[in-house]
Amino acid sequence: VVPPVAEAPLLGFAAVAASRVDTVLVPEGYSASVLLPWGTPLAGDYPAYLADASNTGQDQEQQVGMHHDGMHFFPIDARSNGSSSTEGLLVFNHEYIDHNLIHPNGIDAIPRLADQVRKEMAAHGVSVAHIQQQADGSWQLVNNSPFNRRITAATPMELAGPVRGSNKVVTKYSPEGSRTRGTLNNCGNGFTPWGTYLTCEENWAGYFVNTDAEQPREHQRYGVSGSNGRYFWETATPAADQYQRFNASATAASASEDYRNEPNTYGWIVEIDPFNPDSVPQKRTALGRFGHEGIIFGKLEEGKPLVLYSGDDSRFEYIYKFVSAAPYYQNTAGGHLLNDGVLYVARFNDDGSGEWLPLDINNADFQTKASAAGVAFADQADVLLNTRLAADVSGATKMDRPEWGAVHPDTGEVYFTLTNNTRRTAEQLDAANPRANNTTGHIIRWHERDTQEALAFDWDIFLLAGDVGTETPGTELVLDADNHLASPDGLWFDKNGLLWIQTDMSGSQQGEGPYGNNQMLVADPVTRQMKRFLVGPTDCEVTGISATPDMKTLFVNIQHPGDRSSPDNFTSHWPDGGSSRARSATVVITKDDGGVIGS
Ligand code: FEO
Ligand code: CA
Ligand code: CA
Ligand code: CA
Repeated sequence: VVPPVAEAPLLGFAAVAASRVDTVLVPEGYSASVLLPWGTPLAGDYPAYLADASNTGQDQEQQVGMHHDGMHFFPIDARSNGSSSTEGLLVFNHEYIDHNLIHPNGIDAIPRLADQVRKEMAAHGVSVAHIQQQADGSWQLVNNSPFNRRITAATPMELAGPVRGSNKVVTKYSPEGSRTRGTLNNCGNGFTPWGTYLTCEENWAGYFVNTDAEQPREHQRYGVSGSNGRYFWETATPAADQYQRFNASATAASASEDYRNEPNTYGWIVEIDPFNPDSVPQKRTALGRFGHEGIIFGKLEEGKPLVLYSGDDSRFEYIYKFVSAAPYYQNTAGGHLLNDGVLYVARFNDDGSGEWLPLDINNADFQTKASAAGVAFADQADVLLNTRLAADVSGATKMDRPEWGAVHPDTGEVYFTLTNNTRRTAEQLDAANPRANNTTGHIIRWHERDTQEALAFDWDIFLLAGDVGTETPGTELVLDADNHLASPDGLWFDKNGLLWIQTDMSGSQQGEGPYGNNQMLVADPVTRQMKRFLVGPTDCEVTGISATPDMKTLFVNIQHPGDRSSPDNFTSHWPDGGSSRARSATVVITKDDGGVIGS
């Protein structure tokens, strides 16, 4: 059902073997170097990184954050339709922090010390780094560039789209419900055709606490804690509004006097203009509120609506598609296109067909389903604030943790990783989620019928991940020592049509499984030929990928190396070596003969 691509480039390199070494391994003929690790001075006074983690909160606000994730390279001349492959803005996410690595002696007592909380908030968010290739081929930060910028869990932001002004986003900070502060748990990413960056809020709910006897559905369905935030930020002492807002319990007479609605200002896709250092990030609420893993555009067609895809990475959650109300024209495109459109959720039928179901209060079918389920929505803002609930009532297919998506540059085929789902039982199987206790995950793909904005599609399973010998039924693919993998997560098509797959094994699979350390593979989508291209250091995740337009420099992020460390025992010393604490960092990969990566 899925048409083949016209031309498939070859994978000419020798596969990297699975490994448990505490370093980054790439194929023979390639080189990898480290760029912009956590703590690198990036803005303001450029405070030096202190290897004992004694930098202050104020320092961290001017340094690269922790736990690098989704990333995009913008050629420095992108705004004039240029395509520099030697200078640009590298924009990358910082998903979360590790107490044992960010402070000299790990977590302090509870209540938390305010400056440690300030530092943790500043280590979240996004970095914008102006980088340039040097005469010797290496890449360096352009110090004191006006583009260098940190966006953190405290940066002022605007709410844009249907939820702006809703009474459910009214807070003490923004009584008119138009603004909020910060972005959190920025996992996957996207980028727009008009040269802006999209960052995704994934496991944001855990940062909040609401101890009220009954939580509103906007909190409860997303997992806001009833006891404490994941890092106890709400307890910071001395207390300040910036920290107390993580307590979403109702403490005052009205919403404009407390932070009961603060969690409702999270769970969104956030648009950042990296070329305008003074720009205010925009939370694009029309794209729905859930555990956004990533965001990916469908093929662009002049005069047709924009199409975007996003997965909700939680067990038994969904895959979504947004279709803009206004058509896309290259000359006039901008963020306004993301404020108005229809959000759909996917149903994967067992016969290989699929449907996009509208989550639209003005749609008669949606209204019928909602009332049949006994669920009332006040307006479209209410639907979007409760996107998961709206998807439940629509009859969408519950997936095995949807992570990143990728769209083939020529065919428009859409691929999505389903990382794993150990809670799926034999009674809960369907054709799109075919394995009980799915410990290793799979990759699904589909092709929209006729047009990218179509409401019907045809799908198949691209691969079932697993140990050597794992077969994908209906295909000739049998995994071997060059490509066995588990828990696929990051996913990206390069411009040559090769599919790059990054893994996020955790727990015992990360530490002791047959797969070695987390890794990155590359696949030919036509033949399903697949080879391991990179293995990361000990206890890391490999996530985030982008390249220069000439495909001669590849950027990959190494997240949480040494994540089983304690303050006096670091399980990884990457990248600084010796007895150092591990630091998340970007890895720059080039081919020694100056050729195209992956050839
Ligand atoms: Fe942050 Fe779903 O990985
Ligand atoms: Ca991920
Ligand atoms: Ca993951
Ligand atoms: Ca992660």
